Amino acid sequence: MSTVTTTIADDIERYLSAQQEKSLLRFITCGSVDDGKSTLIGRLLYESKMLFEDQLSQLEADSKKVGTQGGNLDFALLVDGLAAEREQGITIDVAYRFFATDKRKFIVADTPGHEQYTRNMITGASTADVAVILVDARKGVLTQTRRHSYLVSLIGIRRIVLAVNKLDMVGYSQETFERITNEYRAFAAQIGLHDIASIPLSALAGDNVTESSANTPWYGGPSLMAYLESVPVEDDARLNQPFRLPVQWVNRPNLNFRGYAGSISAGEIRRGERVRVLPSGRESRVASIITAAGEAASARCGQAITLTLEDEIDISRGDVIARADAPPAVADQFEATLVWMNEEPMLPGRPYLLKLGTRTVGVTCQQPKYRVNVNTLEHLAARTLEMNEIGVCNLNLDRAVAFDPYAENRETGGFIVIDRLTNNTVGAGMLHFALRRSQNVHWQATVVDASARATLKHQTPRVVWFTGLSGAGKSTIANLVEQKLLALGKHTYLLDGDNVRHGLNKDLGFSEADRVENIRRVAEVARLMMDAGLIALVSFISPFRAERDMARALAGPDGFVEIFVDTPIDVAEERDPKGLYKKARSGELKNFTGIDSPYEPPEQPEIRIDTTADTPEQAAGKIVDWLLHR
Ligand code: ADX
Repeated sequence: MSTVTTTIADDIERYLSAQQEKSLLRFITCGSVDDGKSTLIGRLLYESKMLFEDQLSQLEADSKKVGTQGGNLDFALLVDGLAAEREQGITIDVAYRFFATDKRKFIVADTPGHEQYTRNMITGASTADVAVILVDARKGVLTQTRRHSYLVSLIGIRRIVLAVNKLDMVGYSQETFERITNEYRAFAAQIGLHDIASIPLSALAGDNVTESSANTPWYGGPSLMAYLESVPVEDDARLNQPFRLPVQWVNRPNLNFRGYAGSISAGEIRRGERVRVLPSGRESRVASIITAAGEAASARCGQAITLTLEDEIDISRGDVIARADAPPAVADQFEATLVWMNEEPMLPGRPYLLKLGTRTVGVTCQQPKYRVNVNTLEHLAARTLEMNEIGVCNLNLDRAVAFDPYAENRETGGFIVIDRLTNNTVGAGMLHFALRRSQNVHWQATVVDASARATLKHQTPRVVWFTGLSGAGKSTIANLVEQKLLALGKHTYLLDGDNVRHGLNKDLGFSEADRVENIRRVAEVARLMMDAGLIALVSFISPFRAERDMARALAGPDGFVEIFVDTPIDVAEERDPKGLYKKARSGELKNFTGIDSPYEPPEQPEIRIDTTADTPEQAAGKIVDWLLHR
């Protein structure tokens, strides 16, 4: 570690420990460079006489070079909002700056103002207590002001500073200030923002930034700094909410100790209090609370703790510990607002992962009920969500989770969506409420089960899934396989893409979204057939890995046989049994697989058929052999 880093690290450590007793306010600044945002942030940092950002970024660069040392101090504090996303490999343009005054510590998230940076703003704002929205006094409330305000309200920030900047350029006109303030208030009320402090400013001249300015004698409110120093922080508000501890990990060093570690996301807890663990619903009492400073009689929101309980109950990472008298609800279907953050659009029906607090589960999103034009707040029809679009849709989780509505608790009601294959964060969102049906529809146990039906048929039920390009030979081979199985006395059913698209799926076309839904439905049908004891043969192009994996997961690891009917596109095109390649090449047919719509070949199919080497008869023979002997 270089000496210069050591010195700075020591300085900062001393400095931060001196700051420890102060409360921390997180805020976000919204506006463009033209509005004077950088000038304002620069001045706040400068006037706080705590210009640490350069040293900190220097330190960060150094600590990357030398590994983790030195970087440990309070970097978490600076970048915690980003850490989760970094792990998930998303690049976000948010600069976090840290400063402090005698009264308080501050973290300011500075995000680019441009429209395509919705995801940056959502990320930057996700932990903020206050949003400072800049307007240029000469221009007043603009479309971008409305957009920023909407996003901020979506994130759940309730306190707004309307920073009416560049007032020196309009001669410190009270009339201008009031006109802008009134216009903004009227708009903000429509989106549920009522707590608005409007401050006349000149970031450049320093008016009302830290000191009240003599140039605005008609303004009786606080300077920006005075406001930021005195406004209540969110942690205080969350203290009054019911206790929630999302379990981060179970600490079990030996048989005599079992502790549940995590950060308290709301409320407080005392030794001896009765707790309930969700989603299991089991109850116990708090035996001890261990904090960074040792055992404690109680702990509160924001603290990282380890709890031990009086009874041995089964608790794992992702569970939520709550007070028994005020537990969160548990559900597996929700309505939610979803902000899409990936170049690839959201596809309804595609399996993704959803991370809520410390719990990760499988999720599919339904077609959006609507998307929101962030400039006009209009609701628009949508089939998918593109990058930076915001919509409302229902979510289906593959397991029930404990949650709170986002409006009540940002941590137990806010989630991110992760792509299963790339592991990237592709969306973020807020839970509104659980769908009633998720509480009211239960699984009905049946007496005759899958194995009884299978035994009667003397066979191992399976889903035999043929995938490959159009014209690859899937249906031809699947047909032969079915004939051979029939001859062997097996009970089968062949689901063929072209045929199913005449009935069950006749409402679907060939967009990515429709193909995803096409496969989702047929995978469910195949599962039912397998449950019925049949050998279900499925012959669909099924171009996407994600949906084939979903079909595999539905059938279970033992029941699913993936057969890649591997035919090079030029061979399939040469055959062109239905004349579709010709149409696709001439532009008459859009979204044709292999031409202008992708095909993702299987990575580890159980069986690969090379149709340039084997005849359909030989291929079918190989498949039947495989089925009989595994
Ligand atoms: S999938 O991609 O959604 O799995 P599916 O197997 O159901 O496709 O249907 C493919 C069949 O639809 C093809 O065999 C072909 O006959 C026909 N078809 C019509 N338009 C297209 C298209 N744009 N792309 C692929 N196949 C098409």
